[in-house]
Amino acid sequence: MVSTTTGPLNLSVQLDAAQQAVAASLADLNLKLRHSRRGLISKFFGAAGQQPKGLYIWGTVGRGKTMLMDAFFAGAPDLPKRRVHFHGFMQEVHAARAAHKTDDVIAEIASGVAAKARLLCLDEMQVVDIADAMILGRLFEALWARGVVIITTSNQPPEGLYKDGLNRQLFLPFVKRLQENLHVTHLGDGKDYRLGRLAADETYVTPLGPKADAALDLLWAKLADGEAGLPMALPLLGRTLKVPKAAHSCARFEVSDLTDQALGAPDFLAIAQNFNTVFVDHVTVFKASERNPVKRFILFIDTLYDAGTRLVISAEAAPEALCLSGPHKIEFLRTASRLREMQSQSWWLRGVTQ
Ligand SMILES: Nc1ncnc2c1ncn2[C@@H]1O[C@H](COP(=O)(O)OP(=O)(O)OP(=O)(O)O)[C@@H](O)[C@H]1O
Ligand SMILES: [Mg+2]
Repeated sequence: MVSTTTGPLNLSVQLDAAQQAVAASLADLNLKLRHSRRGLISKFFGAAGQQPKGLYIWGTVGRGKTMLMDAFFAGAPDLPKRRVHFHGFMQEVHAARAAHKTDDVIAEIASGVAAKARLLCLDEMQVVDIADAMILGRLFEALWARGVVIITTSNQPPEGLYKDGLNRQLFLPFVKRLQENLHVTHLGDGKDYRLGRLAADETYVTPLGPKADAALDLLWAKLADGEAGLPMALPLLGRTLKVPKAAHSCARFEVSDLTDQALGAPDFLAIAQNFNTVFVDHVTVFKASERNPVKRFILFIDTLYDAGTRLVISAEAAPEALCLSGPHKIEFLRTASRLREMQSQSWWLRGVTQ
């Protein structure tokens, strides 16, 4: 199935040519990590200072970036390792910065990370936030100085990160260092494997109107065993989250319930953990000015996606047309791809994590 160059990557799918090339780079890195563990790196790979610093995998949505990184992570040599979502990692870093307030807080944070992970896999690197942009350079330098090997996936090449960001010139040295230190590999703009699994299920209903409402009502009736559903309050740390309608492991929200209130990751995680199927009514096209609503919607879909939750949606437009302007339009390409995958028959048929 998979070429022998991908040895340490135990994958049971047929890789395309671009994926095989990335898999070969990952296999090479695996080998180097094994040798560097045994102190053989300079003997086999030239002068000292050639310790691997990592790999940067980029490509469009659904190209298999995460799949390849995860396969590498699973087969990585026996060393302290960590795999984390880039946003989650940066949140931890900001929290540690707020807590520590020492002069060299970045060095301290890097030492903490390095003590627990010689290999750090960061999924979905995306720099939108100026707070992230301004510390990434120092943070990565400090991690590399401590011998941490970084693998990251992204929808953009290093030079595409933080593209129209504020004070981008201050970010450019970091781009250069990423290019110098990480082996940059491109998965191309080929097949989005998520789309391959699509069936004609009507779980994303568009356009909005009485027909769409009736379609969601009908699906609700089927999935909630004919029950109308009752409001409930999900307990969260120190507060509760209102669910307007719940029955038989199904929950139903107006999109505004989710996007127009100050909800965040813990709320969406609680929804994903408590329900098999989530209905969202009346998603409208996001305007450029609706920064927070679109950010929450992206996070909501990411959370449901990661949990394998089933999703039924009524929307004004197709997934790809929901966010065509504003700072999150690139990030939304992934959301659109995920919304498509979440309509596929295989998504609906696979075991739901609960
Ligand atoms: N060669 C392949 N054959 C079959 N399925 C594949 C192949 N490559 C990837 N997939 C599947 O396609 C889906 C998308 O892959 P993956 O999540 O790794 O994409 P991605 O590039 O990380 O996308 P995103 O940018 O949205 O995060 C996954 O379910 C994955 O298992
Ligand atoms: Mg991914």
